[in-house]
Amino acid sequence: MKILAYFLWTSALVSTTLLAQDVARVAPKVMIVSMWTPEAEIWYRRFSELGMGELSLRITLPGLSMLYPDVACTQDGFVCQLTIGEGEINAAASMMALALSPALDLTRTYFLIAGIAGVNPRHATLGSVALSRYAIQVGLQYEIDPRSLPADYPTGYIPYGRQRPYEYPLITYGTEVFEVNANLRDAAYEFALRASLVDDEALESYRAQYEPAGDSYRKGLLPPTVELCDTLTSDVYFSGSILSEVFENTTTIWTNGTGVYCMTAQEDNATLEVLVRAAMSNLVDFGRIVILRSGSNFDRPPPDMSDIDHLTRTNQNGFATSLENIFNVGGEIVRGIIHEWNCTFENGIPADNYIGDIFGSLGGTPDFGLGPVTLPGAGASSSSRRDRRPREVTAGEC
Ligand SMILES: *[C@@H]1O[C@H](CO)[C@@H](O)[C@H](O)[C@H]1NC(C)=O
Ligand SMILES: *[C@@H]1O[C@H](CO)[C@@H](O)[C@H](O)[C@H]1NC(C)=O
Ligand SMILES: *[C@@H]1O[C@H](CO)[C@@H](O)[C@H](O)[C@H]1NC(C)=O
Ligand SMILES: *[C@@H]1O[C@H](CO)[C@@H](O)[C@H](O)[C@H]1NC(C)=O
Repeated sequence: MKILAYFLWTSALVSTTLLAQDVARVAPKVMIVSMWTPEAEIWYRRFSELGMGELSLRITLPGLSMLYPDVACTQDGFVCQLTIGEGEINAAASMMALALSPALDLTRTYFLIAGIAGVNPRHATLGSVALSRYAIQVGLQYEIDPRSLPADYPTGYIPYGRQRPYEYPLITYGTEVFEVNANLRDAAYEFALRASLVDDEALESYRAQYEPAGDSYRKGLLPPTVELCDTLTSDVYFSGSILSEVFENTTTIWTNGTGVYCMTAQEDNATLEVLVRAAMSNLVDFGRIVILRSGSNFDRPPPDMSDIDHLTRTNQNGFATSLENIFNVGGEIVRGIIHEWNCTFENGIPADNYIGDIFGSLGGTPDFGLGPVTLPGAGASSSSRRDRRPREVTAGEC
């Protein structure tokens, strides 16, 4: 989720811009996916700290956002960054342009989806960074204003095909829940633990206001940490105690009890839907996705503040800190993948959990949902990641 104001950093990059047809096919090892300008600027400003050069090669691809028409890569093409635009539609359209571009070979690329988010004080705090296994699109529901519903309806959101809240959706569009490689997430977490997260006195005073809520918001009171918990997607920027709890409950139900809602943003399920479709045609490996979100604002107010006061206050002060921590943690993950490429990451980290969408489009049986629905032969058969053996690297390169 975004806050209302942001800084623009002046970037002193000397860059080269090329059209797709002018470059040799670039095969990035890591593709960083940002949603909007401040999330991209943090990489442009601090990337050289990683000792891998600058993101100074710009490649223009047809179909990207008019606001962000280029992919930015290091000169060796090992690391690239794309800004997809905000919200589900921009995210899906830009990612599809990337996935289908003949200028890039993404078959062995790790995707680091890295943005700011609204944060659930039960599980994390302002400036915390979450690495997710599940992404949930909670907006795919009927909605009736609760003021015109019977008093025993806990929320106005009702799953498709149902008559009451909190039942499992009977009609699914396929993007309700995505699950990514948990072993890769654990490897990314090990790299993330090398990072020093920044904190700030102003954050400390805002988060202290949650103290009267007692133990349930204990994590919200602590300094920023790295957490393993899940990300919601909703084009509607929801805020406040009731909706946040409703979507907490929705996450539990839609992931069949496994998912834990801690971050909320406006893009990830759209991005993941494109990556499922691209994986069905072997254009990407769905086992190579890391979802990283950093809390820039709380999803609900402290006990003594109204929902509207909390939403419209700009002094939560998490924005700049969450951006720095995206780089602090994300940079360690990028560095780790590149440094251990030959020995570990080139071949991929095999997943032990189900990975893919609610339809079972990449093969396997989802551990959530009402059972696989994608028809055999709908593109997944030979490209199922379960059938695909990693390419061997020759011994001695490590
Ligand atoms: C969005 O993606 C997350 C993570 O993969 C998944 O858990 C969630 O169910 C998805 N939600 C929707 C509505 O697609
Ligand atoms: C969420 O679920 C819990 C446990 O079932 C329930 O007590 C609570 O009232 C629910 N919250 C809302 C807003 O529906
Ligand atoms: C998920 O929960 C729903 C509703 O309780 C149930 O019908 C479905 O079979 C469960 N799916 C899995 C894979 O356990
Ligand atoms: C990785 O392998 C490539 C060639 O396959 C080699 O050029 C490079 O030096 C190796 N990197 C490391 C860190 O060993």
